[in-house]
Amino acid sequence: ALHEHAKPLKLASDGPFGHFDNQQLQRGFQVYKEVCAACHGLSLVSFRDLAALGYEEPEIKAIADQWATEVPSINPDTGEASTRKAIPSDRFPSPYANAVAARAANNNALPPDLSLITKAREGGAAYTYSLLTGYRPQTADEVKRFPDAKTPAGLHYNPYFPNLNIAMPPPLTSEGQVTYADGTKSTVDQMAKDVTAFLVWTAEPKLENRHATGLAVVIFLIVASILAYFAYRNIWAEAK
Ligand code: HEM
Repeated sequence: ALHEHAKPLKLASDGPFGHFDNQQLQRGFQVYKEVCAACHGLSLVSFRDLAALGYEEPEIKAIADQWATEVPSINPDTGEASTRKAIPSDRFPSPYANAVAARAANNNALPPDLSLITKAREGGAAYTYSLLTGYRPQTADEVKRFPDAKTPAGLHYNPYFPNLNIAMPPPLTSEGQVTYADGTKSTVDQMAKDVTAFLVWTAEPKLENRHATGLAVVIFLIVASILAYFAYRNIWAEAK
């Protein structure tokens, strides 16, 4: 492939003992809310799911109520379509009424729903992180080697994107773009890591249960194997 391989990314949720870092997930949610939600929905995640990140019910109610995009609603009596404010049981809405409107606003590209993006793309979370931090001008050498690969107007060069030119403008561009509630310095790298960690959670909110179950299963198998070994020794102890 012509595109670059994802940069390595370490997250607290990695590995068989991995746990979510709720502070980081809350920062990542802030980035999603303040930056990504302008173009991307999370159709598999509802506002009340934020309770898992440590948000309290009144906070969740306020977040839903103040969400920039209202949710579609149909009047049950008249059948008339309209929108209303979000409530905790709603999913994070796409900011566009439909795919045609979404494409019209994005140079004919469709901003994908981000719920499962860290599972859907080759490279997983590391790919998302690399994409967010990977925008740069083409080098003179690249321009010389691939003169036909000049970035078309309206697209943006990103060597981590499989076809190199992406319709998404660089979403994270300057330090301090998001003011973190926990006071963490919001460098571009930090924001990219945090929102990626958040998108790992949206794609697998029960990851910690899976890790805990796996650990219990492995411990059980070790104990059962030891018992089986001693039972075997015991049964055959007298045999010559
Ligand atoms: C595509 C993440 C903000 C518009 C994508 C993709 C990811 C992503 C992972 C998929 C790339 C692929 O297909 O492999 C994010 C994150 C954001 C963010 C984490 C916030 C930090 C935005 C914003 C806009 C936008 C603010 C609109 C101004 C798009 C579009 C695509 C896209 C149009 C499709 C690109 C194409 O197929 O060429 N985004 N995005 N994104 N995003 Fe975003």
